[in-house]
Amino acid sequence: MIIKMLQKTEGFISGEEMSKKLGITRAAVWKKIRTLRAKGYKIKGSTAKGYKLTESPDFSVEELSGIIKGTFGAQIVYFESIDSTNNKAMELAEKGLGHGAVLIADTQLKGKGRLGRTWISPPKGNIYMSVILKPEIQPKDGTLLTIMAAIACAKAVRSLTSKHSEELQVKIKWPNDLMLLNKKFGGILTEMRLDPDRIVTAVIGIGINVNIIPDSLPADVKAAATSLKEHLEKPLSRTQIIAEILKGMEYWHEKLIKQGRQPLLEEWKKLSSTLGRKVRVSAGNETFTGIAEDIDDEGMLLLRLPSNTIKRINAGDLTFLI
Ligand code: BTN
Repeated sequence: MIIKMLQKTEGFISGEEMSKKLGITRAAVWKKIRTLRAKGYKIKGSTAKGYKLTESPDFSVEELSGIIKGTFGAQIVYFESIDSTNNKAMELAEKGLGHGAVLIADTQLKGKGRLGRTWISPPKGNIYMSVILKPEIQPKDGTLLTIMAAIACAKAVRSLTSKHSEELQVKIKWPNDLMLLNKKFGGILTEMRLDPDRIVTAVIGIGINVNIIPDSLPADVKAAATSLKEHLEKPLSRTQIIAEILKGMEYWHEKLIKQGRQPLLEEWKKLSSTLGRKVRVSAGNETFTGIAEDIDDEGMLLLRLPSNTIKRINAGDLTFLI
């Protein structure tokens, strides 16, 4: 792949060397360089020395597919604009798109959040992706897939930032909000098509605010929102983040299949910002206050109420009281 060759070369690489290595004509090399430039790659050209990559775009499908080694992300479907990557993923899964395929969009016109909310999805800079899974687990364990994705996202950002500057202390707020200093920068929406005893298709939708400026968000969400950019001096590339998330999802999915739920639940607890804290949870029309004591084997929150009884909650909005 021409982009890999340019990335591997420190200085210039000649058109002739590329054409030999790729087994294509020099005119074809030139055409490929032109296409890459159109996609946002900055490539210096010199008649004497050849070509040198000086800047890469923040996201590129070519680069992503060059990094991916496993099944998750082996197939990538990219959209400049789409209603919702989750909707499209479900549609394409029904038409045969298989386990591990990922859909990525630059912007969503009808991005969906949890509890029927809208996920604001402006273009150029954030991550909107959906991973199709055909998991060998029972419908009642579907929440484990969201837990798996939340762990993969939190650890991806932690690991990339630790290489890059100071590790960002990403936490997971129950159920699966990705948090930095008590503000949300990402969320996960898992949707499933079920048979009575198996998950036919699970679509794991991930939205991450990478470059958004929270001031540009509507008033009701901006106070509680943040983006990675707000916490970093040097931006992270979306390509790298997505690649790291997919690698992590594959790792944790395999662990779930081979070793069961315990390793996931333990990791989730380590990353949790919620357990042990006094919280208020709105679930449907009800609101409960208590101590977030634990999550159970299915990822439900176990809330210790003032009456000292435990309330098991499967979905809701959680606010910290202290
Ligand atoms: C949440 O409310 O916390 C979940 C947000 C999930 C948003 C992502 S963006 C990609 C995928 N497509 C959607 O329509 N939603 C999810």
